[in-house]
Amino acid sequence: MKLKNGEEVWIREAEVSDTQALLDYMRALTYETEFLSFVPGEFNYTMASEEQWIKDHQNKAGNLILNAWVKEQLVANLSMGTPGRQKLDHWATLGISVRKAYWGLGLGNILMQKAVDFAKQSGLYSLRLEVFSPNLRAIHLYEKFGFKQVGRFQNAGRLPDGRLMDDLFMELIVNPDAI
Ligand SMILES: CC(C)(COP(=O)(O)OP(=O)(O)OC[C@H]1O[C@@H](n2cnc3c(N)ncnc32)[C@H](O)[C@@H]1OP(=O)(O)O)[C@@H](O)C(=O)NCCC(=O)NCCS
Repeated sequence: MKLKNGEEVWIREAEVSDTQALLDYMRALTYETEFLSFVPGEFNYTMASEEQWIKDHQNKAGNLILNAWVKEQLVANLSMGTPGRQKLDHWATLGISVRKAYWGLGLGNILMQKAVDFAKQSGLYSLRLEVFSPNLRAIHLYEKFGFKQVGRFQNAGRLPDGRLMDDLFMELIVNPDAI
């Protein structure tokens, strides 16, 4: 698969051997965007917890972690996870990110399409996510794939310079007949 800049990208399900790359990826990302829930220094997951996170998503209905690689570099990640409780497991929470150098090259679209296809095939009722209100690029992407805003916590995020951001709740019903 090719990106808009002509580079080849490989998208694969995360494996335990990706653990260190995922930790490095997330740490780097905290310096590249203000739209994650943590700031640099607050991302303190360990090899053990990250490895467990990958294992928890493997071979489990409605759960998926995708990593996108350009050459040997991890450049994007998407995760989808069900709560792991019987009453709630008809929906999954989605998270997506791309390294800044690769924004605008179509990776977000590619990963979202794979996630929605996977959710449909898994028989999930819905996908959920949260996004900070000024994150217009992400909101555009989610709306393009049919996500609708269903709620908002006002002033949920406070940036180091004092700017406030609302937390938007968005949902996509993928299989209306699944419940
Ligand atoms: C949000 C994010 C995942 C998008 O990934 P991406 O690879 O840049 O996305 P794509 O290149 O596939 O598509 C971006 C789309 O947003 C549009 N866009 C770019 N800037 C925009 C803006 N300021 N306002 C609205 N739309 C914008 C592009 O035109 C493109 O639209 P199209 O699909 O209709 O052509 C990526 O920017 C990112 O990781 N950001 C930091 C982490 C983050 O915010 N994650 C989401 C947390 S909820």
